[in-house]
Amino acid sequence: MIRTVILGTGAAVPKKVLTNQDLESMVETSDEWIATRTGIKSRYIAEDGETTSTLAAEAARRALEMAGVKPEEVDMIVLGTTSPDMIMPNTGALVQKHLGAVNASAFDIYAACSGFVYALTIADKFVKESPEKKILAIGSELLSSITDWQDRNTCVLFGDAAGAVLVSGSTDGDRGILSTHLYSDGCLWELLYIPGGGCIYPPSAEMAEKRDYCIRMHGNEVYKHAVRSLTDVAWEAIRTNNLKPEDVDLFIPHQANIRIMKKVAERLEIQEDRVYMNIERYGNTSSASIPVALDEANRSGRLKQGDLVLLDAFGGGFTWGAVMIRW
Ligand code: ACO
Repeated sequence: MIRTVILGTGAAVPKKVLTNQDLESMVETSDEWIATRTGIKSRYIAEDGETTSTLAAEAARRALEMAGVKPEEVDMIVLGTTSPDMIMPNTGALVQKHLGAVNASAFDIYAACSGFVYALTIADKFVKESPEKKILAIGSELLSSITDWQDRNTCVLFGDAAGAVLVSGSTDGDRGILSTHLYSDGCLWELLYIPGGGCIYPPSAEMAEKRDYCIRMHGNEVYKHAVRSLTDVAWEAIRTNNLKPEDVDLFIPHQANIRIMKKVAERLEIQEDRVYMNIERYGNTSSASIPVALDEANRSGRLKQGDLVLLDAFGGGFTWGAVMIRW
């Protein structure tokens, strides 16, 4: 049986670190409030020259290096983002340029924090059709560019980062992606959205002054939906593969809030030592959070061949989804 396997992983972050103490001098908040409510202590924030596409290209380069694959051998780039370099061209095309991946098609997936899980699912479908294809699935964000730095409800949460995987087909037993599960509910869009910048409310001086190009969120409501949807779709992935929660060796949820991750793990009855959590150092990096965590787990030797890895995402839209992988 042909399965989609991960040949390499990579991640990249900006140089600058913004701590909770730094934020204390920007808005009325405290390290104590942020750490207890979210689990975040610091996050990376981009400076001049660092963009969604440059971070994505760096993460992709590292994944290609690990796989021993040259940029010109890449057939496709699928990039999840909510903070593209520009509206046009798509950020995937800019990554193709930066990498010199001259033979690759490239496009973006717009599914907020679920962007990487959506991108990986699409890559999996293309690989199943043409197992020789080598596809980069990427999640990359410069959330700092769409964060309202005067809104303490949101500005303490987000960070910038990119993560990438290179996938291709393999007949190596049961290894690879076992199943993918995607969902959305557009009826709930008003709980987490960016009001301005699109065709309904185009860019204007007024929009800029009100900072309406930034993320608006009803945190409490998002929290409840995130816990429910992350739990439901993870259960679906476990049951579809005739597994039990205790079979999962590493659970990698979207790093939105440490309390959400712990609650979901508790409902799934997955012990905390099998839940990957790095939100303390990155904050919520939206579509980048899962591939960054996957790369850390991979490079630190946390993953062994044959391990069951469950990816679980939730974000604006709402969108959510899960991917079960035999490493
Ligand atoms: N510092 C200090 N006080 C604050 C801060 C802050 N940074 N932010 C809010 N507060 C205050 C509020 O004003 C409120 O004060 P009040 O009681 O006087 O009105 C109080 O703290 C409690 O606020 P809540 O919003 O109820 O706090 P909560 O415990 O819900 O935590 C949080 C807020 C962290 C946002 C939480 O709701 C959460 O994590 N929600 C989910 C976020 C998420 O999962 N997003 C998903 C994806 S994001 C994406 O797609 C880009």
